Amino acid sequence: MWLAAAAPSLARRLLFLGPPPPPLLLLLLSRSSRRRRRLHSLGLAAMPEKRPFERLPADVCPINYSLCLKPDLLDFTFEGKLEASAQVRQATNQIVMNCADIDIITASYVPEGDEVPRPGIEPRLLSVKARSPNHWTARESPTDCVFRCFDNRKQFSDNFEIHATGFNYQNEDEKVTLSFPSTLQPGTGTLKIDFVGELNDKMKGFYRSKYTTPSGEVRYAAVTQFEATDARRAFPCWDEPAIKATFDISLVVPKDRVALSNMNVIDRKPYPDDENVVEVKFARTPVMSTYLVAFVVGEYDFVETRSKDGVCVRVYTPVGKAEQGKFALEVAAKTLPFYKDYFNVPYPLPKIDLIAIADFAAGAMENWGLVTYRETALLIDPKNSCSSSRQWVALVVGHELAHQWFGNLVTMEWWTHLWLNEGFASWIEYLCVDHCFPEYDIWTQFVSADYTRAQELDALDNSHPIEVSVGHPSEVDEIFDAISYSKGASVIRMLHDYIGDKDFKKGMNMYLTKFQQKNAATEDLWESLENASGKPIAAVMNTWTKQMGFPLIYVEAEQIEDDRLLRLSQRKFCASGPYVGEDCPQWMVPITISTSEDSSHAKMKILMDKPEMNVVLKDVRPDQWVKLNLGTVGFYRTQYSSAMLESLLPGIRDLSLPPVDRLGLQNDLFSLARAGIISTVEVLKVMEAFVNEPNYTVWSDLSCNLGILSTLLSHTDFYEEIQEFVKDVFSPIGERLGWDPKPGEGHLDALLRGLVLGKLGKAGHKATLEEARRRFKDHVEGKQILSADLRSPVYLTVLKHGDGTTLDIMLKLHKQADMQEEKNRIERVLGATLSPELIQKVLTFALSEEVRPQDTVSVIGGVAGGSKHGRKAAWKFIKDNWEELYNRYQGGFLISRLIKLSVEGFAVDKMAGEVKAFFESHPAPSAERTIQQCCENILLNAAWLKRDAESIHQYLLQRKASPPTA
Ligand code: BES
Ligand code: ZN
Repeated sequence: MWLAAAAPSLARRLLFLGPPPPPLLLLLLSRSSRRRRRLHSLGLAAMPEKRPFERLPADVCPINYSLCLKPDLLDFTFEGKLEASAQVRQATNQIVMNCADIDIITASYVPEGDEVPRPGIEPRLLSVKARSPNHWTARESPTDCVFRCFDNRKQFSDNFEIHATGFNYQNEDEKVTLSFPSTLQPGTGTLKIDFVGELNDKMKGFYRSKYTTPSGEVRYAAVTQFEATDARRAFPCWDEPAIKATFDISLVVPKDRVALSNMNVIDRKPYPDDENVVEVKFARTPVMSTYLVAFVVGEYDFVETRSKDGVCVRVYTPVGKAEQGKFALEVAAKTLPFYKDYFNVPYPLPKIDLIAIADFAAGAMENWGLVTYRETALLIDPKNSCSSSRQWVALVVGHELAHQWFGNLVTMEWWTHLWLNEGFASWIEYLCVDHCFPEYDIWTQFVSADYTRAQELDALDNSHPIEVSVGHPSEVDEIFDAISYSKGASVIRMLHDYIGDKDFKKGMNMYLTKFQQKNAATEDLWESLENASGKPIAAVMNTWTKQMGFPLIYVEAEQIEDDRLLRLSQRKFCASGPYVGEDCPQWMVPITISTSEDSSHAKMKILMDKPEMNVVLKDVRPDQWVKLNLGTVGFYRTQYSSAMLESLLPGIRDLSLPPVDRLGLQNDLFSLARAGIISTVEVLKVMEAFVNEPNYTVWSDLSCNLGILSTLLSHTDFYEEIQEFVKDVFSPIGERLGWDPKPGEGHLDALLRGLVLGKLGKAGHKATLEEARRRFKDHVEGKQILSADLRSPVYLTVLKHGDGTTLDIMLKLHKQADMQEEKNRIERVLGATLSPELIQKVLTFALSEEVRPQDTVSVIGGVAGGSKHGRKAAWKFIKDNWEELYNRYQGGFLISRLIKLSVEGFAVDKMAGEVKAFFESHPAPSAERTIQQCCENILLNAAWLKRDAESIHQYLLQRKASPPTA
């Protein structure tokens, strides 16, 4: 019997769980405009109630954990022994630690100096007999626990070993209080705890992950995922980022299994009484936080190299797939020296392992020295992986390795500063990929992947400041969102640009050196950067991290003789229009200004530190355009006067504006339309000006926005007309690209072709549909296998315009697929199917054994984004299967993601009420903010539709009657 009650729900939110989603999923990211008053009247703007929470008392803290764990890979239990040397700072007769879903058997404390070595005496602990090579009997009774470990453990005089007389579990708080019969005096000592736990199937704590051997046998590995607050599910500990200690870890495992932990192996010896079992000991770790501890026991192959700076790097893959680790290995081996140079601090451990885990909730996790990944975030097959997977793997490796310094060596003091970890890693991963793969033009992709996403979320009334006070685990889980990641990364990018690379690097080195092995807060980074640059970093950055939202800069111009006068003003940008009210927040905004004379360099840089400012640009001829936000680096949106905008538009058509500026301009206009500041028809006209556009990322952002509009218009009876518009916009580029790569083409051409063909195919473009069907047939018949880059668009096209037979073929391909990447590729497009029965079939499939638990979300999300009927069916499915879904993720962050994907596409007021009501009676604590954001978005969509549907319809009809000439 477990002494701990069922765990309170925990949830985490992340940003990316795979390569950029196909157009289908992008359709879901919709929102529009609605006045805030309306939201308040529905009571949607109220923030979640704070749950009571207290940090651990500081009277006792750990110095070193000696931890030995013995997982049972057949019974899914584990036994553990902890000997923590600890310091009692203040006399006490109790120790409060974190502990969840763990059954403590015995606990005692031995003050230092009271240890009495008794050589020759049998260890007090009993060993447990093995039944089979990888199967141990569970303990018979709490007293004869546990197994033999620490056989060099010192013996303690019974007089001085103070046995805990009570374990008081506070389940809601995930804590245990150990009570002792006498006072523990200040000084050091050893806390010994024997415990047992379950290898759960919830992808958190110490859990089991299912895999199939090359011979088809189903087996389980034991793996960990501790961030943010789940180390306490594997062993009782002080599970807070600021309570650092060293770790001596040993694992008792079947001898034919691979056993890994943060450090290198220092000893491997037979386990007494069982020749099939070994005890593997790992070297002592540096001082570190509990959330970064990791262990893995399973069957894996690996590839290995040594990086230029002497670190042993291995990539562990499923058995038989070592080849698929080579790409990540190369990236990791290039990345380590890159960071070493950038930070001017060496990687402190002797080795780093990167391992692919079959069942894995997040994308990847930066455990120090043992980074865990979803298979799709690490494995690349030279023939069967597509370009976007390659890019995704490079970004994720770059991200997690950055944490080895930023996060692991210097750790946030509390989760309030989580953004510092995640925002920074989400920025520098691009710097690293740009270094390794300049041909990816990754910084432009940053703008459409992170910057614009962050602005979409941050324009909502239910956004939150980057720095947010959090306590209870469900509140911590909630902030792994686009604000911490993408807005965090975007404001760091803006700051880097404001400071300049040289001083930025210098400041980073000062920060990492000063706080290494310690903890830091946001202010500490600002101080180092301020010292390095001499600029007012804290004053500028506080306006970005301590208040939510961002400004809309309105600009108008006047020609005064040879000069151009600009009048700038700032106001908070809201998804429902500019902020109304007296108390408008203000930002200190670094603004760059360029002109057509030199479109790729800033003619002027200013720091806008007031609500209004005038700027004079010298020597600007009347025929020259003037643009704000060169490179789309500043975290603001721009609204130009009509005259200024008019002068910028030709720069889209003739490509004289740089790509990332074309992208930013289009994206700003689109969001101004959603907010009701300009008309959507104006934006459609601007989109038509992209006829000559060659850039993948510019197309990708435009495509995403057209997807949002399509989803919105699926609520009307002129959905087909917007599909015509999509076909018209994408046909010219589709024709230019064709189906097959041309000599000399590269990574971005492959991405662009996939994007455009997918878009055309989905919209029902006749020639694309026919060719997709032809190629699909050849693929299925084995005549001509589709190249990896063409699979998603072809699968999407044939499914959307196919029947039950097509779906069955896809499901067969799914079953046959050996690579998880291919399975995911198929799972994500299944929702494109249109008929109600087939949609139901896909939903049932989502919860079947065929789909890995973490991937169910994208199948259901795909259905919701696939069609009008799919949207309704997915929502009904979630309501009908709520208990199972919630239980599957234990309220984990995947629940937030599922909710977001499934309800955000609605555009009818009453649906906001329905969603709200459902979650009032089916609470999901860590998804509360997401639910509020979704409801806000539904109302915004509804308002957008009411406001603009008619004029859009008229425009599309009139266009059809007299098509524009290119
Ligand atoms: N630290 C996170 C992993 C994590 C996420 C733990 C959420 C707990 C909750 C890791 O560094 C991370 O950010 N992973 C990302 C991938 C990254 C490339 C954006 C992820 O899992 O999505
Ligand atoms: Zn991260």
